[in-house]
Amino acid sequence: MTEENNSAKTVYRRVVIPEEAKKKFLVGNTPPFLGKTFELTPGAAFTIGREEGKSLQLPSSMVSRSHAKVELQDGRCILTDTESSNGTFANGERLPPNEPYLLSHKDVIKFDTYEFIFIDTAVGDIWQTLKPLSREGSQIVSFYSPKGGTGITTIIVNLAHYLATKADKKVVVVDLDLRFGDVLTFLKGKSGQTIIEAIGESDITPENIQKFIHKGGDFDYLAAPKKTELAELINPNHIKSILWSLEANYDFVLVDLQAVIDDITINTWELSNMIYLVGQPEIGHLIAARRVIEIMNQFKYPDSKFKLIMNKVGRTGSIAAEEIKAFLKKEIVTLPYAPDDAILTSNGGEMLMAEKGSSPLTVGIANLARTMIGEEVVVQEDGGIFAKLKSLLGM
Ligand SMILES: Nc1ncnc2c1ncn2[C@@H]1O[C@H](COP(=O)(O)OP(=O)(O)OP(=O)(O)O)[C@@H](O)[C@H]1O
Ligand SMILES: [Mg+2]
Repeated sequence: MTEENNSAKTVYRRVVIPEEAKKKFLVGNTPPFLGKTFELTPGAAFTIGREEGKSLQLPSSMVSRSHAKVELQDGRCILTDTESSNGTFANGERLPPNEPYLLSHKDVIKFDTYEFIFIDTAVGDIWQTLKPLSREGSQIVSFYSPKGGTGITTIIVNLAHYLATKADKKVVVVDLDLRFGDVLTFLKGKSGQTIIEAIGESDITPENIQKFIHKGGDFDYLAAPKKTELAELINPNHIKSILWSLEANYDFVLVDLQAVIDDITINTWELSNMIYLVGQPEIGHLIAARRVIEIMNQFKYPDSKFKLIMNKVGRTGSIAAEEIKAFLKKEIVTLPYAPDDAILTSNGGEMLMAEKGSSPLTVGIANLARTMIGEEVVVQEDGGIFAKLKSLLGM
């Protein structure tokens, strides 16, 4: 997101995202260092080589015992090949030995097959820079509602199940409903590792994050903390490294967000390819949804970055889909009110595709999944009074 002269947005962002120090990093771009960050600091040089005692020890016979070094002086990082046998490469070019090379943001440097990216946070945010480098086609999709109980977890686990079983996608659900997350209970998961154990790693990488993921079903998930107060231990940088690490391993990272708008939520929005704002057809929910849309507009998110889902549409006494569209001035995806079906998931951990294949709720969620993988979905009009009027008038 660019810094614009938009006071509301600027104030908001200042409050929630403190200015990061302008740090410099080397970030691994190949295993076993994929996603691992090495901060470059003034003072002693950051040394690279095969022998013990190097700042970065590379276990390959193609790497010299003392291979190269990076020095940070006056805010500039200088890479020097220290007469290695097989060379140090910057953006594909071999550096002459002992000649200083001034690193610039996003330079790709290579020792044998080990690749690292130089990140200068004075120029670009580390995670925003790495994101385009992550696996092509993989998507972070987050689900947010300003109010609880709209059906987010029910929708997410059924979407995950559809994407995994019908579309053959690798899917992980991340429970960022950090205070009261219940994906684990929905799925009748055995207690075990949670996000709290994951943030105990000094550096979260695409490799070590796997230790904390629950597997065994059609899709995987990362569980929320088991105690409400533990949510406080998680900060935006954890979220960034967790989501980025998962994106490297999965086709879809589906994020279940809590109802608050805090730095965790906003950082997740920033990293998401798509945000689904979920509501239900009641006045309080619609007013809250409109306020969230205002915030997303202040953030200058393009219209294509966030979509609206109205769940539980058609409940007696609730507001009709056409009126909701008019009120929110945005297209909505509707999912029907089907309490007897939804409860199978929310209270029994059953997947609707398996148990209620032809239920309108199952069909609605399947259609949503199909749009997420780029299939065109023709949704039948719901037959409401507006639809009837339109067809009578030939609109
Ligand atoms: N389409 C639907 N029709 C009827 N009831 C639904 C529908 N979707 C979900 N529900 C019900 O709504 C309730 C809340 O569902 P769920 O826990 O999935 O929502 P949530 O947004 O994740 O809630 P929380 O804020 O507690 O995490 C459950 O009782 C569930 O069965
Ligand atoms: Mg939930």
